Amino acid sequence: AMAAERALAMATCTAPVNIAVIKYWGKRDTDLILPINSSLSVTLHQDQLKTTTTAAASRDFTEDRLWLNGKEADVGHPRVQACLREVRRLARKRRGGGEDTAALSLSYKIHIASENNFPTAAGLASSAAGYACLVSALARLYGVEEELSEVARRGSGSACRSMFGGFVQWQRGERPDGTDSLAFQVAPETHWPELRVLVLVVSGEKKPVGSTAGMQTSVETSPLLKHRAEVVVPERLAQMMRHIRERDFEGFGQLAMRDSNQFHATCLDTFPPIFYLTDLSRHIIALAHRYNAHHGHTKVAYTFDAGPNAVIFALADTVAEFVEVVRRSFPPATNGDQFIRGLPVGSATLSQELVAAVVTEPLPGAVQYILHTKPGPGPQLVDDPSQHLLGADGLP
Ligand code: DP6
Repeated sequence: AMAAERALAMATCTAPVNIAVIKYWGKRDTDLILPINSSLSVTLHQDQLKTTTTAAASRDFTEDRLWLNGKEADVGHPRVQACLREVRRLARKRRGGGEDTAALSLSYKIHIASENNFPTAAGLASSAAGYACLVSALARLYGVEEELSEVARRGSGSACRSMFGGFVQWQRGERPDGTDSLAFQVAPETHWPELRVLVLVVSGEKKPVGSTAGMQTSVETSPLLKHRAEVVVPERLAQMMRHIRERDFEGFGQLAMRDSNQFHATCLDTFPPIFYLTDLSRHIIALAHRYNAHHGHTKVAYTFDAGPNAVIFALADTVAEFVEVVRRSFPPATNGDQFIRGLPVGSATLSQELVAAVVTEPLPGAVQYILHTKPGPGPQLVDDPSQHLLGADGLP
């Protein structure tokens, strides 16, 4: 084959954020990112939260380069390098070792540009979407079509779950090489059309301890985490799968809250302890429980990751009322402009009884805004070349 190798190739993908309802916390292998327990998450819709990544390879590039939200970043980061190496390995395997000269050369340097459609400062889990998107764009660039959650996992554990839409399980796997530590879809995003998600973006402050470092200290010191991984999670995972299959919101919501609480209990059981929940988190937790108690059943469910934002699950018919409860409890600091973002929220009038029972001592300005979203699909290919984040010169 005498065909010339392609001089420049480019691929752009988008990928979603996910929120775990059975949490991942703890690795049995820190290099391969193998977890001590399986986890289960809901993929959020990319109309509200997504990462876009363009990967380009060219004969003319002299070094690998990476830009995150327009600023050049370290392409040598071990996790970025692991993803790159693994995608290239799959590409080589696919080409069967032979020199397919029509295919993009694996020795070309690459340029990668990635950006989020949401403020990074808001502390919304961006590494899961980021690595899922990186791996998707690289795979597209090199023509790899294999199952890629195993590769995304090498970027960030939770990223493997962002490789699918809807409801996703990351099974811990048993093998030491991690080949069975994969994500798979439990149910598509269309499975539960009434399910909604409210992200309560709280004001300011970065998280004290990153999840990577935090979970390692937990593995080393928390007996509760060990019990959780060995005994609690296997039971809960089976229960959660059933609640999702049956679209049982009460069961789903209660278990999501309990699992979030147990995750934060393992953080307190870590020595020295780690605190991700704040006074405001506790206010939101209490508010959700008062709201549910007032209605006599579980209408909203909260979950918190390694940061201060609250994620609330509810069914569509509850959203307007609960959003009004949040607005009354945390009155917007300014004129309330853009307090509600994302999917439209209807208006609701609260009864005197509801206000009296649920809204206690308002905290003005504590919640910056509410993002209304829902479950959504997995990574997408962006066909339109005008959407590439890199120009024909390979620069942002
Ligand atoms: C609390 O996936 O960010 O959000 O694998 O070290 O990159 P690394 O950690 P990461 O941890 C996520 C922890 C969590 C729970 C979850 O998403 O399951």
